[in-house]
Amino acid sequence: MGTKSLKRRLRESQNPPMAAAATPWRKPRSYATPSVLLTAFLTVSVISLLVLSSNKWRAFQSGSSYETVTVVNVFPHDPQAFTQGLVYHKNDILFESTGLYGKSSIRKVALQTGKVEDVQKMDGSLFGEGLTLLNDRLFQVTWLQKAGFIYNLKNLSKIGTFNHDMKDGWGLATDGTFLFGSDGSSTLYQIDPQTFKAVSKQVVYYKSHEVHNLNELEYINGEIWANVFMTDCIVRISPDDGRVLGWILLQNLRKELMEAGNNDIDVLNGIAWDGEQKRIFVTGKLWPKLYEIKVSPLKKPIEEGFIEKVCLRRPFKFP
Ligand SMILES: *[C@@H]1O[C@H](CO)[C@@H](O)[C@H](O)[C@H]1NC(C)=O
Repeated sequence: MGTKSLKRRLRESQNPPMAAAATPWRKPRSYATPSVLLTAFLTVSVISLLVLSSNKWRAFQSGSSYETVTVVNVFPHDPQAFTQGLVYHKNDILFESTGLYGKSSIRKVALQTGKVEDVQKMDGSLFGEGLTLLNDRLFQVTWLQKAGFIYNLKNLSKIGTFNHDMKDGWGLATDGTFLFGSDGSSTLYQIDPQTFKAVSKQVVYYKSHEVHNLNELEYINGEIWANVFMTDCIVRISPDDGRVLGWILLQNLRKELMEAGNNDIDVLNGIAWDGEQKRIFVTGKLWPKLYEIKVSPLKKPIEEGFIEKVCLRRPFKFP
């Protein structure tokens, strides 16, 4: 919403509340002038309250929403899984791609028990990355390579390879038609699932800052949700123009795991969406738990500079 439309809205909405609010203050004639002033003041107050409380205005002010999470359910997760891609299928079945040389795999996982029901180990020269599911095929990208793999959903057998247009393979998601990809930069790619060419690219900005290190992706209700590597933040992106719609702060999850003695866990990574039951799942690399979360707005306004400090990092450089 632009300033123009806001002004227009203010002008348009001024007349009815003015008339309504005027009535109780009109009676004592001698107070006509103060009452007019008071009426005007009240009218402005009422309008301000109405406008301030509308979501549109809040979005207009900050450009983004800021949200925190509460844990709805905790499930076991293989603490050996260096999670790089996570997808919910159906009937409490997840598919997961794991990284690290010699430990990379694609696997079918039971949500409730965390049990790995099927696994396809990858060649030792490959480092598994983002994963998505389109038309009963699993698409996976790999780190430091342009090569990706396609697997049969039923038995995880490899049915194809592809070369993508991105600089590297980090995250994958799909809206059911196109693939979306990330390569660790601030660019979100929209990819044709037949040719694997990027059909559009959007650089993601928060205020004037590029959001670097876009990692694991998930498509949720018309938005792309992305883990930001080296942070406990998920950024919500508009796939149409790369605009940051909001930030989800998940610091509490890794903190609690560390406090419980899980000292070897790595970063938050992996977002899965069960569209049928509207469930959101997140986990991390080498995390012993997978969480179903609910997202809700922060109770207090965000501190100036908080997102810059906590959710934005310099571009990752391969050591
Ligand atoms: C996997 O399933 C496909 C068809 O569903 C079949 O053609 C293929 O042979 C199977 N692969 C393995 C390794 O069982």
